[in-house]
Amino acid sequence: MNYLPIIDFIRSLYPNRDFIPLHEPHFGGNEKKYLADCVDSTFVSSVGKYVDRFEEMNRDFTGAKYAIATVNGTAALHIALKLVGVEQGDMVITQPLTFIATCNAISYCGAEPVFVDIDRDTLGMSPESLEAWLAANTVIEDGVSYYLPRMGTNERSRINTNRAQEQGQKNFIEQNANIADNNKVLSQTSNSPLVDISDLSLVPIRGRQKISACVPMHTFGHPCRIDRIVEICNRYHIPVVEDSAESLGSYYIDQHTGTFGKLGILSFNGNKTITTGGGGMIITNDDVLGPLAKHITTTAKKPHPWKFEHDMIGFNYRMPNVNAALGCAQMERLTEILANKRETAARYAEFFASMEGVKYIQEPSDSVSNYWLNVLLLNDLEQREEFLKQSNENKVMTRPAWILMPELSMFKAAVCADLCVSMDIASRLVNIPSSVRE
Ligand SMILES: Cc1ncc(COP(=O)(O)O)c(C=O)c1O
Repeated sequence: MNYLPIIDFIRSLYPNRDFIPLHEPHFGGNEKKYLADCVDSTFVSSVGKYVDRFEEMNRDFTGAKYAIATVNGTAALHIALKLVGVEQGDMVITQPLTFIATCNAISYCGAEPVFVDIDRDTLGMSPESLEAWLAANTVIEDGVSYYLPRMGTNERSRINTNRAQEQGQKNFIEQNANIADNNKVLSQTSNSPLVDISDLSLVPIRGRQKISACVPMHTFGHPCRIDRIVEICNRYHIPVVEDSAESLGSYYIDQHTGTFGKLGILSFNGNKTITTGGGGMIITNDDVLGPLAKHITTTAKKPHPWKFEHDMIGFNYRMPNVNAALGCAQMERLTEILANKRETAARYAEFFASMEGVKYIQEPSDSVSNYWLNVLLLNDLEQREEFLKQSNENKVMTRPAWILMPELSMFKAAVCADLCVSMDIASRLVNIPSSVRE
């Protein structure tokens, strides 16, 4: 297929550019002024007025009662998971289509991710898949959900093909992979080797595990059906931590993403809607966890003019003033930036509306999306590869979705629901340029 008309259209949106990146920061306000102020005042590090101001601006914008600035979104997620009580050996439910940071933060807590499927329209966690998995795999005792699969006895590893077959279960590999003659398991999404079966040692069978959190993600800025997810998790006594790293400025039924769960997090990495260079934020309405988040991210130091007393193991995760200064200037322009991105999304929607074989993903119903990264779905893997080749060769940056988390070596033994939607979407999805336009 010839994708030049699409490439030309993208070029027309970003005129006079040789190379068109996927998403670049846009500085046009007080960024330099505030940075200079930091340098002149010497307050470039963990103390300074901009951190407090940046937190206040985030509280005002999201409507969260507490906003705690951190060094990056991954650190925010790590602390949010600790605050809801995720511990060594626990399980945390999330989605396979996400950036690695979601699963890294779960792993930092010593917990393991469980993957449930996504929705086709939101690209985020499917409430139906979540509910079905919980109904089939958990038991609630004394207000705590534990992993206890109904169908198999002690079956924990989807890699353990033989056992799953004995029990009549279809596991992730059987459903989604091709097994080659040389015992290599090939991903249907990327056709890359997943794992060599001959190397497999059985995953040890441990005692029952607590399901201590659920982490849905608002993918590429499109809100997932977060109200349903929270309602289901409430029934199972599982706290929700929203990975809203990508969704600053996105709303589900008039409420900002990240404020539905017990805690939410934001990222201000350089590729996000607005940036602090590197940075993140924990947001919450919880009167206990909000102040505790501040305490634990600032080395758990008890307030005192000169004494250094720390009352728990804390983290040095506080956002430096110099990053927050950049963030304040960016926040001043957030509404303008969101409007600009929305206008780009409308142009894309109109252009792709009548195009055969290419589907442009629009914001889901009941939602307002920040359209962080615009998304196309092509017909199949082959067309995706061709599109990526043609666009990148023509210096228009496009990217496939992340490799699904359970395809990565670290998570090959993770417990998974049926992931057929994730597999399908990941094999056909591309992101197209989405920066603010001049
Ligand atoms: C879904 C998701 N979660 C977490 C993060 C982590 O944020 P950071 O890069 O600021 O650590 C990112 C972004 O980078 C992300 O896209």
